[in-house]
Amino acid sequence: MVSFFHTPVLTKEILNYLDFKKGGVYIDCTLGGGGHSKAILESIYPHGILIGIDQDREAIETVKEELKSYIDKVKLVKGNFQSLEGILSDLKIETVSGIIFDLGVSFHQLKEKKRGFSFKEDSHLDMRMDLTQKFNADILINSYSEKDLAEIFEKYGEERFSKRIARLIVTERKKRAITTTKQLADLIIKAFPRTKKRHTWRIHPATRVFQAIRIEVNQELKALEKGLNQAIRVLEDKGRICVISYHSLEDRIVKNIFKEVEREGKEQKNYGLKIITKKPIRPSSEEIRDNPKARSAKLRVAEKIISVT
Ligand SMILES: C[S@@+](CC[C@H](N)C(=O)[O-])C[C@H]1O[C@@H](n2cnc3c(N)ncnc32)[C@H](O)[C@@H]1O
Repeated sequence: MVSFFHTPVLTKEILNYLDFKKGGVYIDCTLGGGGHSKAILESIYPHGILIGIDQDREAIETVKEELKSYIDKVKLVKGNFQSLEGILSDLKIETVSGIIFDLGVSFHQLKEKKRGFSFKEDSHLDMRMDLTQKFNADILINSYSEKDLAEIFEKYGEERFSKRIARLIVTERKKRAITTTKQLADLIIKAFPRTKKRHTWRIHPATRVFQAIRIEVNQELKALEKGLNQAIRVLEDKGRICVISYHSLEDRIVKNIFKEVEREGKEQKNYGLKIITKKPIRPSSEEIRDNPKARSAKLRVAEKIISVT
């Protein structure tokens, strides 16, 4: 069995905001190591039901074992949350009481060398969350045009030196394919201007580019848009949606979709959202001290409103 480790973020806050209803159906769209799912189950057991979704089969396999004492109240599905409505319709579920998204990669995915997400370990450039998908970081780096590479680094990594990095990648890959995380990280450092001395780095130069590649390989932002819109549709009246994001691109999408549905609700009087968190909730300094990975987390919560006309 795979060992999976991930410390859940903002758990107390999530439990609070979900405002559980007796017998409700709750969905964890990003099961990961199952930390949030377990906490939800402990709160709703024995009346409610939890559906856990993850596109990573290693997450499903591990959590299945972890949550086996709740077997009659849990359904785990290997799938992409961008197909949330399809997943629920297969389970013959029409509406749900609460949904959470805890975006990005798990600590397990980052740390497991063979998954190729991290430049701190030398491994094959992979970065797929869904291991059945063909497209990976190696294919991306060795096949995208210089223009497309630069565009992705700029758009998804907000990388200042995206053009220089893309140019060097394209020059180097003509000599030898770029297939490992270390090869790529070294190239990125090489592409940085010489004036940017090592001791002046705030973060490792490869951080932003690796984030950008990961987002492109897993089509993370498209999945988020689709998944969020579907999640809002399947919520019942007064059902709540909680989303934890870890960078500004994700947070912007969450904020904008919440606002858009709130506005549409007011105009069309069909269904809308009430935004519960005017400003995103951040982890406390104690949580960040205990789990530094939580430091960039932002939680936004909204409640579905179905108008009776
Ligand atoms: C930050 S981790 C979640 C950790 C989890 N909340 C916990 O307590 O352990 C994010 C998880 O979401 C999964 N994921 C990301 N995007 C997904 C998508 N579009 N569909 C399904 N799962 C996704 C990843 O594979 C990863 O396991």
